[in-house]
Amino acid sequence: MSNDTSEQDLPPVTDWVNDWDWLDEQWGPNAIDIWNQVRAVSPVATTERYGRAHMPVTMQAVSEVAHDTEHFSSVFVSVARPDAPRFPAPPITSDPPDHKAHRRLLLPSFSPKVVNQMEEGFRTFCRALIDELDGQNSADAAVQYAQHIPVHGICQLLGVPESDADMFRDWIFRNFQLAPRDNAVRIQVQTEMDEYVAKLLELRLETPEDDLLTLVANAQIDDEPVRQDLKLGYVRLMIIAGIDTTWSALASGLWHFAQHPEQVARLVAAANEELLWNTASEEVLRYYAPVTMGRKVIADTEVAGCPVRKGEQTLVTFPAANHDPEAFENASEFLIDRAKNRHVAFGLGIHRCLGSNLARLELLVGLQEWLRAFPNYQLDPTAETAWANGQVRGPRSIPVLLNR
Ligand code: HEM
Repeated sequence: MSNDTSEQDLPPVTDWVNDWDWLDEQWGPNAIDIWNQVRAVSPVATTERYGRAHMPVTMQAVSEVAHDTEHFSSVFVSVARPDAPRFPAPPITSDPPDHKAHRRLLLPSFSPKVVNQMEEGFRTFCRALIDELDGQNSADAAVQYAQHIPVHGICQLLGVPESDADMFRDWIFRNFQLAPRDNAVRIQVQTEMDEYVAKLLELRLETPEDDLLTLVANAQIDDEPVRQDLKLGYVRLMIIAGIDTTWSALASGLWHFAQHPEQVARLVAAANEELLWNTASEEVLRYYAPVTMGRKVIADTEVAGCPVRKGEQTLVTFPAANHDPEAFENASEFLIDRAKNRHVAFGLGIHRCLGSNLARLELLVGLQEWLRAFPNYQLDPTAETAWANGQVRGPRSIPVLLNR
């Protein structure tokens, strides 16, 4: 592969079992059908598009990879060109035994106690976004609403200015949609982010504040200061992991409910009935789980009986596992009152999402405020929803009619 391989160079996928590609245009809108089709044939699909890489699609196969840190390393958590440069962003890019200390350092910032205090702030923020739509009968539920809510959360938690939101989204777009096929983009995004974060960490050393940036600026493990490149990595990870993930989940929920007025009516009638809202928002996470991770194979092994070799790559296709009929009753149905829902949208094993409390709060509040404000909204029949492909899948533009 040359270094300037771009999306245009690769033909559309016609065989998802032997030639899958998560940057193919069909992935965004059709991934669930794709995983279901593959699962009917094999628990694991392969491709040669990024060197040899695998795609498990059953709960068992995904779980095997996620729990096996002896054969699958997180040093690189995308599936990309085999010569892609790697940059540490702990804890997500750490393997045992290092992983634990990095995770432990950040964990207190994401506790339910810290996150629950943010609820009223999120409600006020969502209502302000809704107020901005005053007088309009059409809107873009992703662009004018969903995309702003997680940025608000991350900016508060980290202590970075909300005015930098467009820059964060641009980094995220280039990192997930372009970098897997283009090393130059990966390096450029990395450089820009590091310059930005380094300045902020310096400021916090001079003037400490009550935020995560200050914690990172002073981070120590075993009484030793953490290396600067790892500190930069912590903050890069927060920005990369904390924004388009929840944005995608919320936007998927809004896209779904726009087409299911009967479910909206039940939820809105339930008003403060916490249980139904909670089961509905967990079902959004199961059905539309946005995040697929990657691993590097570091020793020969098998996944669900399929051989994988050292040096190859594999996806950890958590969203596909969420649609496995062996793991969920009526897996293909979206049930807002699904009582038993052990979905794996937030991962499995040691890397399970650190931000899940925050993500759940943003999703729940974001859905409640929108559905209560616009109980009759629907997709605009004259316009198309646009989807992001790849590692973080979800709608990026959802034209809707508000039907106040
Ligand atoms: C709906 C929203 C989200 C989803 C679906 C999601 C999903 C995931 C998944 C699947 C993993 C496992 C990674 C792996 O196995 O390699 C993960 C890890 C992680 N997530 Fe999230 N995430 C979401 C939101 C967030 C938010 C808001 C943050 C806050 C910054 C965050 C921070 C992290 C971190 C730091 C890790 C790494 C944990 C570790 O390696 O120990 N995530 N997430």
